[in-house]
Amino acid sequence: MTPLRGGTQRNPDRRTDGPIVAKFARLLGTPLLPWQRLVADVAGEIDPDTGTYFYDTVILSTPRQCGKSTLVDAVDTRNSQWGPDRFIYYLAQTGKDAGDHFKKYLKTLGSSPLAAITTRPYLGAGDLRQPFANGSVIMPKSVTKVAGHGVQGDKITLDEAFSLSEETGNTILDGFMPTMATRLKATGVQPQLWITSTEGTAESTFFNRRLDACRAGEQSRRTCWFDFGLPADEDPENLDSIMRHHPAAGLLWNKTQLADFREQFQGNPAGWARAFGNRRDEGITDRAIDEALWAATVTAPVTPGDLDGRPVVFGVAVDVDGTHTSVSAGIANNDGTITVQLLRILDGTGYAPTELTRLCSKYGAPVVIDARGTAADLSDRLRHMTDDAGDPLLQFVDMDAGDYLTTGQSFVAGLANHAITHAADPELDASAANSARKWAGDAWRVSRRGSTGLTSPLESCMLAAWGAAHRPEETGPLQIY
Ligand SMILES: Nc1ncnc2c1ncn2[C@@H]1O[C@H](COP(=O)(O)OP(=O)(O)OP(=O)(O)O)[C@@H](O)[C@H]1O
Ligand SMILES: [Mg+2]
Repeated sequence: MTPLRGGTQRNPDRRTDGPIVAKFARLLGTPLLPWQRLVADVAGEIDPDTGTYFYDTVILSTPRQCGKSTLVDAVDTRNSQWGPDRFIYYLAQTGKDAGDHFKKYLKTLGSSPLAAITTRPYLGAGDLRQPFANGSVIMPKSVTKVAGHGVQGDKITLDEAFSLSEETGNTILDGFMPTMATRLKATGVQPQLWITSTEGTAESTFFNRRLDACRAGEQSRRTCWFDFGLPADEDPENLDSIMRHHPAAGLLWNKTQLADFREQFQGNPAGWARAFGNRRDEGITDRAIDEALWAATVTAPVTPGDLDGRPVVFGVAVDVDGTHTSVSAGIANNDGTITVQLLRILDGTGYAPTELTRLCSKYGAPVVIDARGTAADLSDRLRHMTDDAGDPLLQFVDMDAGDYLTTGQSFVAGLANHAITHAADPELDASAANSARKWAGDAWRVSRRGSTGLTSPLESCMLAAWGAAHRPEETGPLQIY
C-alpha cells in the first residue's frame, strides 16, 4: 500500500468495524481501495471497555481525486445501520458542493442492493436527505447554513475542510461536540466527527491548525489521523514520485492520465503540488508592498519633541481573532507629505481604549479605525466612550466602507509618489514583509488570513496615512496624490 506521510497505526489488539464498512462499500459498487480500508479499519476500532468506537475524531488528508468522499459515503451508509433514528451529516463548502456529491451518492445507493433498506429520498432544494427504513437519515448541508445553528448528530463529516476558517469551523464544532456525550448515552454508539480535506493554503486556518497538531503529536488520544501525500524531500514535478505517493495512483487512474492532469495546471505549480502532492500552498505569492519600494521609503523616527505643531492622527487596526491591536501615527508634514510611524502593538484589544484616550488627549488627535471587520468590536467600544459631560471622548476621521477599501492602494501609491514615508521600525518591516494582498476585481486589500504574520502594524499605518490626508479640521480633504 502507498506509504502514509504520517498518521495513526492500526492497533491489532482492538476489534474493528472496518470489515463491515468494506461490505457496505462493495454493495455500493466501490470496494474499498487499500488506503480506504486502512482508514476504515483504524477509524472503526472498537474500544474493548465500551464496546463502541474508540475514536471520536477522524482527520484525513489526501491529495485530490483519491476517493475521500466515496469512503465517507460508505462509512455513512454503514453508520446509518448501527441502530434506529441516527442522524448523519455530510457538510461541504457550499450547499451546491454538498448537494452535487450527495445526488451522485443517491443514484449509487438507489441502484444498489442497499436500496432495499432505504425509503424515498427527499430532493427538495434546501432539504436533500436520504432516509432509511430504520428511521436513520443522511443529510448533506452547506457549512455556512449549519454554522449559525449547529448540528446534533451521530456522525458529521466536514468534507473539503480546507475551505473553512478557524472561526467558521469552530462554530460548527461548538454545536456538535457538546451533544456527543448525550447521543452516546442515548444510542450506545460513540458519535464520530470526520474532518477530511486536501491541504489548503495559509488561509485554511481551521484545517491547518488541526493537521499541524496531529503532526506535532498533540492530538487527543481519541483522535486518529491519516496523512497521505508527497514527502517534503520529493519533487512534485517528478510524476513517478507522485505515482508512488498518491494512494489512488494506478487504482483510479494511471500515469498517462497523470500527465494529462499536470497539463491542466500549466502555470500553476503550487496548485499542482497541492492537488496531487497534497502540499500546503503557503507562499505569500503576492506581497502587499514591494520590498524595494518599502526599503526606498523609510525615514527616521519622529520624537514627540520634534512635532512642531504638525497635526497627527492615529490609525488603529486589529489582527484576526483580536490577538493584537496596533496603533500608528500619521503626521502631516509642512511640505504636504505624510510620515507614518508605528507606536504600539498591544496584546488583544483590551488595552487599546485607555492607551488611545491617553494618546489622543496628549496630541489632540483624531482616530481612524474600520467600523467593520476585525476592528468592529473595538471601534464600537471606542465610539461609545464618553467624558463626564456625556460627550464623546474621542474624535474620529469619518471613513466609509468604500474609503476603507482604498486605504491600501492609496498608501502604496503615496509611497511610490514620494508623498508618504514610514519611520524605521523592525516590527513594521516584518509586518510589511508578511502581509499579502487579496484581490477583489481590480481592488486589493491586505489579506489577514493569507498573510504569515501580524498585519495590524502595516494596516494601522495605512489607516493613519489615509486619516492624515482626510483630517476633519480641513475644509476639504487634503489632496496629496
Ligand atoms: N473504492 C473505489 N472504487 C471505485 N471507484 C472509486 C472508489 N473510490 C473512489 N472512486 C471514484 O474515484 C473518483 C474520485 O473519488 P472521490 O470523489 O471520492 O475522491 P475525492 O478524494 O473526494 O476527490 P476530491 O478531492 O476531488 O473531492 C470518483 O469518480 C469515485 O467514484
Ligand atoms: Mg471529494
